Amino acid sequence: MANLHTPEPELLKPGIKAPVQETLLTPRFYTTDFEAIAQMDISAQEPELLAVLEELRADYNRHHFVRGSEFEQCWDSIDGETRRSFIDFLERSCTSEFSGFLLFKELSRRLKEQNPILAEAFLLMSRDEARHAGFLNKSMADFNLSLNLSYLTKNRTYTFFPPEWVIYTVYLSEKIGYWRYILVYRHMEAHPEHQIYPLFRYFESWCQDENRHGDFFKALLRSQPQLWNNWKSRLWVRFFLLTVFATHTLTVFERATFYESIGINPREYNTKVIEETNNTAARAFPLTLNTNHPEFFSRLEKCSENNLKLGEINVSDRPKIIKLVQKLPLLLSIIWNLLRIYLLKPIDAESSRATVS
Ligand SMILES: [Fe+2]
Ligand SMILES: [Fe+2]
Repeated sequence: MANLHTPEPELLKPGIKAPVQETLLTPRFYTTDFEAIAQMDISAQEPELLAVLEELRADYNRHHFVRGSEFEQCWDSIDGETRRSFIDFLERSCTSEFSGFLLFKELSRRLKEQNPILAEAFLLMSRDEARHAGFLNKSMADFNLSLNLSYLTKNRTYTFFPPEWVIYTVYLSEKIGYWRYILVYRHMEAHPEHQIYPLFRYFESWCQDENRHGDFFKALLRSQPQLWNNWKSRLWVRFFLLTVFATHTLTVFERATFYESIGINPREYNTKVIEETNNTAARAFPLTLNTNHPEFFSRLEKCSENNLKLGEINVSDRPKIIKLVQKLPLLLSIIWNLLRIYLLKPIDAESSRATVS
């Protein structure tokens, strides 16, 4: 499969990295209808929400994010395409952690008066995300780069998502984040020779934070019956599952070099992350996608192939109109394949609720 070369990092001033250009795939910054969330009646799931809140208060990872002496060495041995794609991985991860921090922090601030349980939980989750983003940013500093987070806060565009979309997407991104981190961690445990950089050693406890955040959002989602008990919600859930899985597939294959450099087969990794996240989602969503359908992954991977071709066309120096003509069929094919996956019969999760929750 064709592989795009990651461009050399662009610098704002020496050592400060210019944020990657925003595309549909780069992590976004979100804002929402805070008043509507403040008004939510969460009583149906209050015991579950309080249980997760108790765990967040316990702050199990208080002493986890401390850089050990194993970081104190020169990392020039990681070079070339591996270095570029690794920095790209760090940057995207850092940006999405930071995006979570900003959203949770703002939610906590705006909900303080009306919904103290949610406000406290969001505050504690923003604490976790700030640690994650900070830790990743320090790793970038090992490669003589750092993301200017305050510049990012002021200069990024914020996308408005209604509360329901926030709950669906944050739930999914926390759970997919859990699977992404734990699978890399388990791989490193089995193959320590691929541990090119000590960051991965931190993923085990780190991913437990994401798991708790996901559990909190699961309880929040289940407290709002309109988010899972009607046909509209079933269509939205299918849409968000597919969007998150498609985005994951495209980004994993774009960064294939990075995964290969740490001994991970990108295709196997992508498949496993999606299958596990989909199974997990059955605990919160009324349905999940049929990842076992023979067309499921082949169509997702077709989208990824087209996406890589689109990237090649974008960086070529052909005239704009030629680029457009070349891109159009690829874009249409992506839309067509996604639509076909969307229309595959989903798997009902509500009928087996008693056994899975
Ligand atoms: Fe995080
Ligand atoms: Fe998180």
